[in-house]
Amino acid sequence: MEEDKRKKETAFIIRQEQVAENIFSMWINTPSSQVAKPGQFLNLFCHDKSRLLPRPISICEIDRLRGSIRLVYRVSGKGTDEFSHLSSGDTIQFIGPLGNGFPLDIPQKDAMIIGGGIGIPPMLELAKEFPSSCKIVLGYSNFPFLKEEFEKTGSSVYVATENGSYGTKGTVVSAIMENYLKANVIFACGPLPMLRAVKQFAKVRNMECYISMEEKMACGVGACLGCTIDTVDVNGHLNVKKARVCKDGPVFNAKEVII
Ligand SMILES: Cc1cc2nc3c(=O)[nH]c(=O)nc-3n(C[C@H](O)[C@H](O)[C@H](O)COP(=O)(O)OP(=O)(O)OC[C@H]3O[C@@H](n4cnc5c(N)ncnc54)[C@H](O)[C@@H]3O)c2cc1C
Ligand code: FES
Repeated sequence: MEEDKRKKETAFIIRQEQVAENIFSMWINTPSSQVAKPGQFLNLFCHDKSRLLPRPISICEIDRLRGSIRLVYRVSGKGTDEFSHLSSGDTIQFIGPLGNGFPLDIPQKDAMIIGGGIGIPPMLELAKEFPSSCKIVLGYSNFPFLKEEFEKTGSSVYVATENGSYGTKGTVVSAIMENYLKANVIFACGPLPMLRAVKQFAKVRNMECYISMEEKMACGVGACLGCTIDTVDVNGHLNVKKARVCKDGPVFNAKEVII
């Protein structure tokens, strides 16, 4: 299986559309849809060979029936800008699915799914794992993209915006407090300050908490050690208090990482 993950795959783009300012949604046709898990990512290669390193983008949705995967990404530099100009029928190369994904083997619990900014798309497939039964908290700087799609999962969706234009004014933690939300386990993805606040919130309430981390990456498969973060315990593979976001993560038990 490790070998397969390193093999470059070429996929056809089924469709691509803009879903918000600078944010694009791309469906690709790939047999990887049969093995992908929420929380994993694909490492996408640019057609422009001057951009050697692949760009990690999380899996937003998986359609096993149609054999496709959805990626939602923000244009933040040259690589993602290149992707945004691709359209239906074009090809894209990638390796993946990479990383561990969210733990789905924990006993069914009262779950809270939290996403912030471009950390929101990776939570959609996970939300579909808890139909009508979890609390979803989404934090935006302003425009609430993908909100209706989260609502279609049947679970309750709570929104926070920095400027107060939608939902609670403030952060995801403000929305949780305002709505008196409770849960046994939290799954979160978003900017580092949000993850720190969520980790602290979970710690104070003694809640289980899993966070999806982001680091600049090179190989994406655990070989270059370019994406390490500090951990509480010694990593069995590395023999130091560090973990590779690409291989040991990107999802970590919040208790195990120093952020
Ligand atoms: C596990 C993981 C999942 C991610 N999922 C998503 C997602 O679903 N949607 C989304 O919009 N973005 C996601 N990102 C961030 C995304 O990888 C970067 O925005 C993207 O690589 C930027 O590439 P660029 O060429 O446009 O920018 P440039 O700034 O030109 O990139 C230069 C180099 O830095 C790397 N880089 C720059 N920013 C980041 C970053 N934030 N994280 C990692 N590498 C970076 C690039 O891969 C590239 O090698 C994810 C990152 C990680 C690590
Ligand atoms: S990117 Fe090479 S070890 Fe993670």
